[in-house]
Amino acid sequence: MTQPAELPAPEELVERLSAAMVGAFDLFAIYIGDQLGYYQALGEASATSVQLAERTGTAERYAREWLEQQAVTGILTVDDPGKPAQDRVFSLPANYRDIFLNPTSPMAIAPAAQIFVGAITPLPAVLDAFRSGGGVPYADYGADLACGQGSINRPMLANRLAQEYIPAMPDIHAQLMSDTQVRVADIGMGLGWSSIALAKSFPNILVDGFDLDERSVQLAAANAQAEGVSNRVTFHARNAGDVDFAGKYDFALAVECVHDMSNPVAVLDAMRRLVGPGGTVLVVDEKAEDAFNPMGSESERSLYGWSILHCLPVGMVDQPSAGTGAVMRPETLRAYAAQAGFQQVETLPVDNDSFHFYRLTA
Ligand SMILES: C[S@@+](CC[C@H](N)C(=O)[O-])C[C@H]1O[C@@H](n2cnc3c(N)ncnc32)[C@H](O)[C@@H]1O
Repeated sequence: MTQPAELPAPEELVERLSAAMVGAFDLFAIYIGDQLGYYQALGEASATSVQLAERTGTAERYAREWLEQQAVTGILTVDDPGKPAQDRVFSLPANYRDIFLNPTSPMAIAPAAQIFVGAITPLPAVLDAFRSGGGVPYADYGADLACGQGSINRPMLANRLAQEYIPAMPDIHAQLMSDTQVRVADIGMGLGWSSIALAKSFPNILVDGFDLDERSVQLAAANAQAEGVSNRVTFHARNAGDVDFAGKYDFALAVECVHDMSNPVAVLDAMRRLVGPGGTVLVVDEKAEDAFNPMGSESERSLYGWSILHCLPVGMVDQPSAGTGAVMRPETLRAYAAQAGFQQVETLPVDNDSFHFYRLTA
């Protein structure tokens, strides 16, 4: 029996799990505040519950409960807690504005709340999947999962993909910077922020994004339009693992999606064919540790959480499935790449707490 001695005492475990429930309430309350425009309204001006309700078209009694919850949990300040409830003025502290109001800030938290809500949306179907061994379609997680997923990666993609991660491949960076037109395929692009970030940074490239999820494709097209790059970025509803999936691209990438795929080898094989012999594919995927360890890190705990609620169920939809899940270890990705016919896999030396950056050479 090799169970480590460091398991917490029963009381400690219960304390930790009870604190987790309070933390979950915080995220759900943030979801409510974000969806109803409460943070936006408070960002414009401090408010009483009456004012907040008026400005957002919501009911005062609910607005008041939310404001009090936000003050008690340490997000909002209140001018005088001794005033009658409806006269208290609540404010969003200036140094919290980025957290709640700036979608491209690395500190933006609303996306985490939204994806969390999305992840539990089809919970009964997830239970069924556990019983049957089947899967839960990505679309069944609803707009919250798709939008939360897009928004959670948006700051990294907007601020670091073209600026730090692509330059870790100097030859690809030079190619994307060149005056000649370069074609990029973005596989499983979700809401399209990776394609949009590349198009904004490299003015001569054309990007095709491919994703199975129709809702994501539509939302991505709207994002490209709003960001002014829809003339060079096109999104397609396609299964990148289809046998007839073809094209000719100078570079292809897949951000945080290979582990979600029922057949990751088929998709990687298609990507290898898209870039041709010697071409480069960049796979950005979860920074799982090298091996299973029962005393795993906080990030490994988080990956397993996402995996049981979402990543494994979506990956089990098409059978037979590789059944990868969020905890895709480097060795697993290397094995998939080898089966898909890649010559080489290099882990890029980039600074990122959440993702590995695998450069695959066709
Ligand atoms: C976790 S999301 C990541 C989305 C996006 N890359 C991002 O970073 O926000 C995974 C995406 O992969 C897509 N996907 C899964 N399997 C696919 C396949 N075989 N072909 C194309 N897209 C796929 C899903 O529809 C989903 O949008």
